[in-house]
Amino acid sequence: MSRKNIIAANWKMNMTPTETAAFLDPFLTTFSDAVDCDIVIAPSFVSLAKASEEITPNPAVSLSAQNMSHEASGAFTGETSAAMLLDLGCEYVILGHSERRSLYNECDSVINKKVHATLAAGMKPILCIGESLEEREGGKLESVLTSQLEGSLADVSADQMANVVIAYEPVWAIGTGVTATSGQAQETQKFVRSVLEKLFGADVAGATRIQYGGSVKPGNAGELIAQPDIDGFLVGGAALDPTSFAEIVKAGIAG
Ligand code: PGA
Repeated sequence: MSRKNIIAANWKMNMTPTETAAFLDPFLTTFSDAVDCDIVIAPSFVSLAKASEEITPNPAVSLSAQNMSHEASGAFTGETSAAMLLDLGCEYVILGHSERRSLYNECDSVINKKVHATLAAGMKPILCIGESLEEREGGKLESVLTSQLEGSLADVSADQMANVVIAYEPVWAIGTGVTATSGQAQETQKFVRSVLEKLFGADVAGATRIQYGGSVKPGNAGELIAQPDIDGFLVGGAALDPTSFAEIVKAGIAG
C-alpha cells in the first residue's frame, strides 16, 4: 500500500516569532508548489500566529502545534484549546512527545483524551511513542510500545485512524546524536504496524503513516526513508536550520 510521506519539524522550545519568519522566508521559497510529501512545521504556541501568516498561502506546508489541552475552554491557566489552534489554521497536533511524558508526567490516559479532542476538532494527531534504552535493553520494547498504542488510542475508531499519524521515537535517540540504525527502526516500525493491525485491522495498519524520530539528519534521512515501514520523520535539532530541514524534506519527496 502506498503511503504519502510526512516530514515534520518539531521546533520544541526554540524559535521566537522573529526567528520563525527568518526561517520560513527562505524555506517556503524552496517549497512553493505542492509536492508528493506532506511538510509540517510545529512551532511553539507563541510563534504559531507568525508561522500561520507565512504558511497559509503555501500549498505544500501545513501547521502543527506541539501540544494541546483536552479541555474545550475555561479555567485552565497556561493551557491552549483545540478551538484556538483551529483558529490559527493548525492541521496537526503533536501529542505524547517523550518530553511531555517524562518532564510533564503525561500518561497514556491523558494523551488519549487529547487524541480524542484533536480528532473531534477535525485536526490530526501526530501521536508519539517510544521506549527508553533501559526498556529496550531489558526486553520490554514490545510491551512498552503496545501499551502506549493501546492506551493512547483507546476508543479511537478505525475510520478516525485515517487522520492519525504515529511517530516512533526511541527516547535514547532523541537529541542525542545517536540514531537508531535503519534496520532497528524498520524492525520496530514493522512491529508497531503489527500492533495497529491487531487493534484496527490490516487495512488501517497498511494505510497508517508511521514516522521515525530521533537524531534524523540530512546524512541519514535517505537510508531511513528507504525502509518499507518508515513513512516520514519527526525532526528536532536538524529542523532548526532551513537548509538542513529542506534536505530532509527532499529525502522525503524522493523516498
Ligand atoms: P531530534 O528530536 O531530531 O533532535 O532527535 C526529535 C524529536 O524529539 O521529535
